[in-house]
Amino acid sequence: MKPEKDFKAYTAAQQKRINEALRGLLPRASCRPRTLHESMRYSVFAGGKRLRPILCLAAAEACGSSDNRAMPAACAVECVHTYSLIHDDLPCMDDDDLRRGKPTNHKVYGEAVAVLAGDALLALAFELISQSKPAGKHTAGKMAQELALTAGSKHLVGGQVMDMEGEGAGLSARQLRFIHESKTAALLTCSLRLGAMAAGASQGKMDSLSQFGKSTGLAFQIIDDILDITQSSEKLGKSAGKDLATEKATYPAVHGLEKSRREAARLTADAIAALKPLGSKASRLREIAGYLLDREY
Ligand code: IPE
Ligand code: IPE
Ligand code: MG
Ligand code: MG
Ligand code: MG
Repeated sequence: MKPEKDFKAYTAAQQKRINEALRGLLPRASCRPRTLHESMRYSVFAGGKRLRPILCLAAAEACGSSDNRAMPAACAVECVHTYSLIHDDLPCMDDDDLRRGKPTNHKVYGEAVAVLAGDALLALAFELISQSKPAGKHTAGKMAQELALTAGSKHLVGGQVMDMEGEGAGLSARQLRFIHESKTAALLTCSLRLGAMAAGASQGKMDSLSQFGKSTGLAFQIIDDILDITQSSEKLGKSAGKDLATEKATYPAVHGLEKSRREAARLTADAIAALKPLGSKASRLREIAGYLLDREY
């Protein structure tokens, strides 16, 4: 098989595995209260790329694990991510109508249920991560602590607050980078670290993956900012052109499109270089980083 074709088949197979696991782990839609469980499943199964769980499983593989032991962590990071998207789209935040090619959660279920579906997905994430099997010095408790730190006020939620406060504020390049690292790169890094922990990875491997995550995660949000300008809503499955309209602090707004593209490419090269100590076992991670740079949605 051609490498590109092989990569497509790999991501499709991983998405399928992850979706099957999530289907079994989320409460059924018929479970009381129905609206809440329907709403949680609506957003989780609306068709995301599953990037974070794919990274989690690929990091476990890079650290020598070939079985399903990282799957609870992979599903947990997808639950945190989907909760953050539901809340990100709320009228009091980015006020978006379209997500993953469908009406946003609050458009279908109303704001109150959307807030609560997000809350329940966040709680579910911790229920799932606590089911992780201990691997060497990495216990389920340590993994939950790592996820809590990432999802909390110093990273994801803090980044979202700074993103809101940054609208129309004319931020410096440093402030912008800190927002992107917090709201986005932190969860990508955490996904990798949790995969490594599930595989019982050494400190050295964890450090390499953290460096990879920080660079590729920042590149990921830069590309998200670029796509908001250059792509159609139809292709993205979410409303394009919103960042300019709301004067969001984005890489293209601060640096221009060309410099932003160069920065994303530079960060991706840095990310790939950070994987050197992991050798050939990290080849999927290298492919993922390349794909993320060139993606169209
Ligand atoms: C969108 O993330 C939000 C950002 C952090 C930029 P994704 O582009 O991974 O969204 P899905 O999961 O594929 O919908
Ligand atoms: C979202 O960033 C980051 C999150 C933590 C959800 P954006 O607001 O740019 O994400 P999109 O463009 O709505 O997916
Ligand atoms: Mg936002
Ligand atoms: Mg948004
Ligand atoms: Mg965006």
